[in-house]
Amino acid sequence: MMHSLKDDKRIDPEKLPRHIAIIMDGNGRWAKQHGKARVQGHEAGARSVRAVIEACRELSVPVLSLYAFSTENWRRSAGEVNALFRLLSKYIHKEIGELHKNDIRVRFMGRWEGLPKRAVDDLRYCIELTKDNQSLTVNVAINYGGRAEIVDAARSLIKKGVAPDKLTEELFAQALYQPEFSEVDLLIRTSGEVRVSNFMLWQISYAEMQFPEVLWPDFSKEHLCDAIAEYQSRKRRFGGR
Ligand code: IPE
Ligand code: IPE
Ligand code: MG
Repeated sequence: MMHSLKDDKRIDPEKLPRHIAIIMDGNGRWAKQHGKARVQGHEAGARSVRAVIEACRELSVPVLSLYAFSTENWRRSAGEVNALFRLLSKYIHKEIGELHKNDIRVRFMGRWEGLPKRAVDDLRYCIELTKDNQSLTVNVAINYGGRAEIVDAARSLIKKGVAPDKLTEELFAQALYQPEFSEVDLLIRTSGEVRVSNFMLWQISYAEMQFPEVLWPDFSKEHLCDAIAEYQSRKRRFGGR
């Protein structure tokens, strides 16, 4: 019988990160390791998405941001891009009932322009259905770029006619895609690559970062608990002493 994650003695429930962001990397390498097609790597990655969502909810982590498709991922082959969006719709249809039942709220970060119509419809449905849910918020980053987000924020502030001397960091943060969640406490990138690849550039300014070697399809609840325990062992100083 599996213990509840809340029984993990290494984790202090009083010091949980309030916002975890994950760069889900390594699906292609996982597929290669297993002699499978890249698409099958992405399919396997979808199971890890389910696991981390469940884990965050069990532990009462309030916000999880997931990097699913970057503004640079359009450079991949049309076949892979189409497969990723097909998988997104399949995932939504398969999981939405359970997500809603578990009181999980889904939000979107990214540019709507350029997304396939089916993805737009499925995402909008999912966001609308779950908008009043309270247990965990999952921000999915699709057609997302940190620089694009900053440019979009600047555009919206200029359109509102904000005067230059009235612009503050707080006001700027209010113009980001999900202004309620403008600080990331813990950033995890799987697969051993040590870079941020244009993810949440504004929000990670004081995030604790971890780069576990594990490939995304192998990332489990246990790995998330390891990351949280490691996070809690660090001393965050925010420039102070
Ligand atoms: C991450 O896995 C998934 C997406 C970027 C959509 P990759 O597809 O980048 O896997 P690797 O880096 O080739 O192993
Ligand atoms: C970052 O991974 C994007 C996502 C996980 C969605 P990539 O695999 O696209 O990043 P690079 O190309 O290795 O920097
Ligand atoms: Mg990659």
